[in-house]
Amino acid sequence: MLLGGVPGVLPAKVLILGGGIVGTEAAKMAAGLGADVTIMDISLKRLRYLDDIMPANVKTQMSNDYNIRSQVKVSDLIIGAVLIPGAKAPYLVTKDMLKTMNPGTVMVDVAVDQGGCIETTVPSTHDHPTYVVDEVIHYTVANMPGAVPRTSTIALTNATLPYAISLAANGWKKACSEDKALRKGLNVVNGKIVYKGVSDAWGLPYFQVEEVLK
Ligand SMILES: NC(=O)c1ccc[n+]([C@@H]2O[C@H](COP(=O)([O-])OP(=O)(O)OC[C@H]3O[C@@H](n4cnc5c(N)ncnc54)[C@H](O)[C@@H]3O)[C@@H](O)[C@H]2O)c1
Repeated sequence: MLLGGVPGVLPAKVLILGGGIVGTEAAKMAAGLGADVTIMDISLKRLRYLDDIMPANVKTQMSNDYNIRSQVKVSDLIIGAVLIPGAKAPYLVTKDMLKTMNPGTVMVDVAVDQGGCIETTVPSTHDHPTYVVDEVIHYTVANMPGAVPRTSTIALTNATLPYAISLAANGWKKACSEDKALRKGLNVVNGKIVYKGVSDAWGLPYFQVEEVLK
């Protein structure tokens, strides 16, 4: 399908679930091609921001079961890009919804590395990236940046190298004590869970990281 349409043919409808980093970049790409894009998120603050900065062919809608059910029926491309830090992604597209979609609809579950936000997601690889369930095409590669390993690694290390240098120079404890951003990355210290999302997900006690580091 032509994402942008041509004179006399409507552009594709693209639905993006989650308007964070991934969702915003996906919307920029799809909107740039001329598609009719809808971004859903549960954060009204985020939706307000996206509404301000996105071009006119990108609309925003609150993410809830009713809106998702209505949109999946008419979408040509659905991108799952939700994240709940430290927890498994919620299933926003359930198996029963697939039967309501047009045959040939494409679903890309970028949240696959957090368990996926589509019930029928099974992690795939670049060797066999797609599979079909109920005539809906699924793309669920767990390491999508691996398709462009050199440039994606440069992009990642531009952001992470300062942390690696600090860890090497100071040792993990001093580095994490002095740097709030690094400290936020700690999950377990001395056998104690210091990341709220992880303790909630496993139903185990949570400890304040600052207390454990003392
Ligand atoms: N497969 C891959 O190669 C690959 C690559 C990059 C990122 N990811 C994954 O993509 C996902 C998104 O990453 P990100 O960096 O954009 O995260 P992010 O935190 O920037 O954005 C996530 C967004 O999801 C929203 N959200 C939470 N619950 C929601 C719901 N019920 N409905 C709609 N929106 C909801 C949040 O409000 C937030 O705006 C993560 O799971 C991440 O691990 C996968």
